[in-house]
Amino acid sequence: MKAVVIRKHGGPDVLSYEEIDDPQPVKGHAIVRVDYCAVNHLDIWVRNGLPDKQVSFPHVLGCDISGTLVEGFGRFKKGDKVIVYPAIQSGIPRVSFSIIGGFGRYHGGYAELVRVPQKNIVKKPDWFSSIEACALNVSYLTAWNMLKRSGCKKGNTILIWGANSGVGSAAILLAKAMGLRIITVVSDQNKAGLARKLGAHLVIDRSRSDVIVETLKYTNDHGVDAVIDHVGAKTWPISIEILKTGGKMIACGTTTGAEANVNIRAFYSKEASIIGAYLGTKSQLIALHKFMKSKKVKPIIDSTFELRDIKLAHKKMEGSSQFGKIILKVSS
Ligand SMILES: NC(=O)c1ccc[n+]([C@@H]2O[C@H](COP(=O)([O-])OP(=O)(O)OC[C@H]3O[C@@H](n4cnc5c(N)ncnc54)[C@H](OP(=O)(O)O)[C@@H]3O)[C@@H](O)[C@H]2O)c1
Repeated sequence: MKAVVIRKHGGPDVLSYEEIDDPQPVKGHAIVRVDYCAVNHLDIWVRNGLPDKQVSFPHVLGCDISGTLVEGFGRFKKGDKVIVYPAIQSGIPRVSFSIIGGFGRYHGGYAELVRVPQKNIVKKPDWFSSIEACALNVSYLTAWNMLKRSGCKKGNTILIWGANSGVGSAAILLAKAMGLRIITVVSDQNKAGLARKLGAHLVIDRSRSDVIVETLKYTNDHGVDAVIDHVGAKTWPISIEILKTGGKMIACGTTTGAEANVNIRAFYSKEASIIGAYLGTKSQLIALHKFMKSKKVKPIIDSTFELRDIKLAHKKMEGSSQFGKIILKVSS
């Protein structure tokens, strides 16, 4: 089969499009012909490598998969359109799970065929096309989990960092459907226009304006009910500063670094909470499908690349020039 393989960590040049052996059947597992696989920032982390994480080479990236079942099992039939819930029990103390195609032993969806545990197979909801369905398993599920953990109700105000990102654009769409007031942050005017179209009530261009000043002005100095922070070291101090009394910061990512310098006094004196979010459960994924269908919400797709053009897709994500999900067309 055709696949993109990495044999060492590094820049986009370590991504090798080549022919490798098909995965063979293993008890309790299903083989899926991958139709589409969304690109996530996790793919960049795994490609680059992280000091405290291991992967055995050769490795196939790609955690966000929609495809076609090669053989049936249980209530699933051969040829069924499915998606793959990406979490696998980690076996590591105090770590909830590892992710298919991520740092772990399962190969991912940058390949025509992928072998995954049968319990990770979910029927593709009819409301979504295969290309849309592959975008939901990571960014959308995490955004959904974060919004649930924020406890926000209709009318509450939330700040969502990085409107153009997978997680940020998903959170804006879902928060809008939940009836929240949305402040979001971008780094240029083009992204600002797209963020407004998506439904943000206030868009702050961080290249021109101060996020704290603009947020406090908009909220009459009260601050926001919650912040969705996937950016990490650079944004944590700001996220804490702009929370209202009793506000919640929900964190899932470290794009700008994993060690932040924060004002602890500002945090506790307003009785704020910092809550971590790691993907979401399979039942949350199914609840997300139902919610999006009931609200007639479809994921935002930025662009589609052929699998062989994987380096271009990674460069686009690293340049942050996307708005929404970058998708790989694998074997459809
Ligand atoms: N915990 C989990 O389960 C989970 C799940 C999904 C994702 N994540 C993590 O969440 C993060 C986002 O993932 P993604 O796939 O959505 O990434 P992505 O599409 O590559 O987006 C990265 C975003 O970071 C923003 N950004 C970069 N530097 C910034 C700065 N200094 N200030 C403000 N914003 C900045 C970019 O905004 P500009 O373009 O405006 O610079 C862009 O919107 C990654 O770290 C990923 O690993 C975690």
